Amino acid sequence: MIISIGIGPGGLDYLTRRGERLIREADVVTGFTTVIDFVSEMISPQAKRIDLTYKNQSEELELAAIEHHAGKKVVAVFMGDLHFSGWQMQERVEKACGHVVDTVPGISSAQIMASRGRVCFDETTFVTFHRRGDLQPFKKHLVRVLEDGRNAIVIPHPWEFMPNRIAGHLIEMGISADLAVEVWENLTAEEATWRGVLSECTAEFSDMSIMLVRAREPFPSVFVDDE
Ligand SMILES: C[S@@+](CC[C@H](N)C(=O)[O-])C[C@H]1O[C@@H](n2cnc3c(N)ncnc32)[C@H](O)[C@@H]1O
Repeated sequence: MIISIGIGPGGLDYLTRRGERLIREADVVTGFTTVIDFVSEMISPQAKRIDLTYKNQSEELELAAIEHHAGKKVVAVFMGDLHFSGWQMQERVEKACGHVVDTVPGISSAQIMASRGRVCFDETTFVTFHRRGDLQPFKKHLVRVLEDGRNAIVIPHPWEFMPNRIAGHLIEMGISADLAVEVWENLTAEEATWRGVLSECTAEFSDMSIMLVRAREPFPSVFVDDE
C-alpha cells in the first residue's frame, strides 16, 4: 500500500487526523528531509525513512516503490496540500509505482495565507512558480488574474523568482505599482509578515514564504455600525 499525504503547513495542529494515523502506522516514510522532519515525532522507531533530495528523488522513489510492491505500508509526505504545488512530485511517485496513487489532502500554506490575509478563494487565484520547467505561462497567468480584478496568492520560485522579482515583473507588465502586497514567512511556526505595495516589495525573503497581491481593498477587520 502506498499513499501520498499532505502534512499541512508545518504546525502539527494543522495535520489531519487521517494523515497522522497513516504516518504512525507506516512501515516506510518517504519525502524531502525537511518535510519528514516535521512529522518525525510520529514515525514508528521501526519504520524506514527514505529521504529525497532534488537530485536523487527519482532513484529514491524507486526504492519506496519496491517496498510498496513488497507489501509494506508506505507513505509519501508532502508540505501543505499536495494538490497545491505538489503535483509534479506526485507524478514522480506514480511513475515509480507504475500506477495512480491515492492522496490525502492537507491544509495548504495558501489556505493559511487566505486566513491571515482575510481573503476568500471565490475571489482569489492560486499561482505557483515553485515548479520545474517553463515559468512563462504562469507569469502571464498571474498578470491576467490581477487584470481580471482577482487577488493572487503566489508561491515564489526559490531563489530565481522571489517576491521582489515577482513584484518587479508585475509592474513591468503594467500592473499598478500601488496594489497592496503581503509576504508571510513560516506560517504556523515562527511567522513573519511584511506589508506594503508592489513598488515597495524589494526585500529578500526566505524560501518558506508566500505572497498575497490584493486586487482591491480588503474588507475591514471590524464592522462598525454607522449609527
Ligand atoms: C513545493 S511548494 C509546496 C506547497 C505546499 N504543497 C502547500 O500546499 O503549501 C513549497 C513552497 O510552499 C511555500 N510554503 C509551504 N509551507 C509554507 C509555510 N508554512 N509558510 C510559508 N510558505 C510556505 C513556500 O514558498 C515553499 O517554498
